[in-house]
Amino acid sequence: MDAPKEFGLRNVSSHCSISEMDDYDLSRLLDKPRLNIERQRSFDERSLSELSIGLTRGLENFVDSTCSPGARSGFDTPASSARNSFEPHPMVAEAWEALRRSLVYYRRQPVGTIAAYDHASEEVLNYDQVFVRDFVPSALAFLMNGEPDIVKNFLLKTLHLQGWEKRIDRFKLGEGAMPASFKVLHDPIRKSDTIVADFGESAIGRVAPVDSGFWWIILLRAYTKSTGDLSLAETPECQKGMRLILALCLSEGFDTFPTLLCADGCSMIDRRMGIYGYPIEIQALFFMALRCALSMLKHDAEGKEFVERIVKRLHALSFHMRSYFWLDFQQLNDIYRYKTEEYSHTAVNKFNVIPDSIPEWVFDFMPTRGGYFIGNVSPARMDFRWFALGNCVAILSSLATPEQSMAIMDLIESRWEELVGEMPLKIAYPAIESHDWRIITGCDPKNTRWSYHNGGSWPVLLWLLTAACIKTGRPQIARRAIDLAESRLLKDSWPEYYDGKLGRFVGKQARKYQTWSIAGYLVAKMLLEDPSHLGMISLEEDKQMKPVIKRSYSWTC
Ligand code: GLC
Repeated sequence: MDAPKEFGLRNVSSHCSISEMDDYDLSRLLDKPRLNIERQRSFDERSLSELSIGLTRGLENFVDSTCSPGARSGFDTPASSARNSFEPHPMVAEAWEALRRSLVYYRRQPVGTIAAYDHASEEVLNYDQVFVRDFVPSALAFLMNGEPDIVKNFLLKTLHLQGWEKRIDRFKLGEGAMPASFKVLHDPIRKSDTIVADFGESAIGRVAPVDSGFWWIILLRAYTKSTGDLSLAETPECQKGMRLILALCLSEGFDTFPTLLCADGCSMIDRRMGIYGYPIEIQALFFMALRCALSMLKHDAEGKEFVERIVKRLHALSFHMRSYFWLDFQQLNDIYRYKTEEYSHTAVNKFNVIPDSIPEWVFDFMPTRGGYFIGNVSPARMDFRWFALGNCVAILSSLATPEQSMAIMDLIESRWEELVGEMPLKIAYPAIESHDWRIITGCDPKNTRWSYHNGGSWPVLLWLLTAACIKTGRPQIARRAIDLAESRLLKDSWPEYYDGKLGRFVGKQARKYQTWSIAGYLVAKMLLEDPSHLGMISLEEDKQMKPVIKRSYSWTC
C-alpha cells in the first residue's frame, strides 16, 4: 500500500480539463513540500481499509504538484499572512484539547467527532452523534495537523453507511444518500460496537441532508490533496460512492433550471426557514462537489459517462448562477425597473419577478461597491437574503468569478456590522420577523428573529470566511474576525451560536463545547498561519467557464 512517491515531480498531462487547472495559480504561489512517506506508511499499516489500490493517470494528474501535506510549512506567499509570524494564542492549545475530547471511536479506531460535548445540557437530542457536515472542520484541522487517519476512517465508515438500505415509513430512499449523522453504540458486556445512522428518518422534521454527500466528496478531495494518498479515492468503493451521489443529483426530471431542486431544511439550516427551491447553500456545495468529483473520477467505462454529465452540468450551472443569482447595485437597479409579463425568448425579466416583491431592506443594504449571490431564484421568487456559507463556498469553488469574489469581500467589509457584528459570522441576513416569521418558519420558537438559523451568528463559519479571505488575498479581514472570536469563544465555552442583531449574546438554546465551533477556530488559525493549506479546500477558476455576466459598476469602480 505504498503511496506514490515523488508525486511532486509528476507532470500534468492533458486529459483532465478541470483538474489540471485545479489550483494552478496557487501552485505557483505556494510551497510544494514532498509527502511525508514515513507518516504515510505507518498510516497505511493501521488502515481500516483492505481495499485494493490501482493508480490511474487521472488521479496522478489530480494530485500533481499541489498537495499540501499536514506539516506546517510557514512558507511566505503573496496572499499569505505567514510573514507576520504568530505566537500561538493560548486558546489554540485549549481548542485542541477540547477537539480531542470529542473524538468518537468505533472498534478502537477514531471515526469522527461528536457534535457537542456539553454535559451541562439537559437535552442531548442528537448532539451526541457524528454529523457529516459538522465533522468537516474537524477533518480539516486533523489534516492540517498531519493526522489523516481519522479522516480516512470517517470517509470509509460513511461510505459503508451509504450502502445501507434506507427507508422512511414505507418509502425507500435513493441509493446514494449519505447520512446526516451516525452514532456508535458501545456494548460493554459483549464488548462490541455498533453503528446507527440517521438519513433523515429520525431527524427533527424528517429533513433530507442533501449537503452530506457533497461534503463527503469535498472531504475526499481534501484528504487526497492533503496527503497525496491517491489510493483511497481510486478504490472501486470510493469511485462507486461518488457515482451514487452524482446519480442522485444529476438525474433528469422536469426541471427547466440546472440548479438542484431541494426541500426546506436540506443543509446546515436543517429546519424550515424558507430555503426550499434552489437554495444558494446547496447550489454552491453542488457546484464544488461536481468539480471535486470531476478531478477524482476515473475515466473508465462507468466513470466516463459521469464525467461527461458533470462537464455539461457545470457549464450550465455556472452560467445560471453567475447570471441570475448575482446581485449588485446595478443588478438591483435593473430588477427594480423590470417590466413584467414578458413572454418568449426575448424576455429580460425571465422569471417574471415583480419589482414590488423586492424587500425594502435590500435597497439600504446594497452598497455601491460590492455584491453577493442571493438566497434563491425561482419563478416570481427571488430570496434576497444573504447566506454566508453559500457565498464563501462560491468563492472557494470558483463558482464566483474573481470579480464577483472580490465584490463579496467588499460587501462583507462595508456591511461588517450587519454580517459580522460582534461575533463572526451571521448565518443569514436579515432575520425574518412577525408575519413573515409565522408563515415562513411555521412559528418556530427556536428560529425567532436574530437567533439560531434566523440571523444567528455561528462561529463555525469563521473557517469558511478565513479561507475565502485568503483566496481573495484579503487576510486582514479574517484577522479582524478571528480577533473578535478570540475575545469570547473560550470564555463562553465554545457556543454553537450567538443571538442578537450584533451577535452579542450566547444563543438561547446554544450547546456549549460545540465541536465545529472549536474546530472552525483551529482551521481558521492554521489557514492564516500557513496559507498553503488552502489548496485542500479551494479550486482555482476553470478558464473554460467564461464569465457571462455583464460588468457592473461594483466591478469597475
Ligand atoms: C443543528 C444544526 C445543524 C448541525 C447540527 C449538529 O441541527 O442546525 O447544522 O449539523 O445541529 O451540530
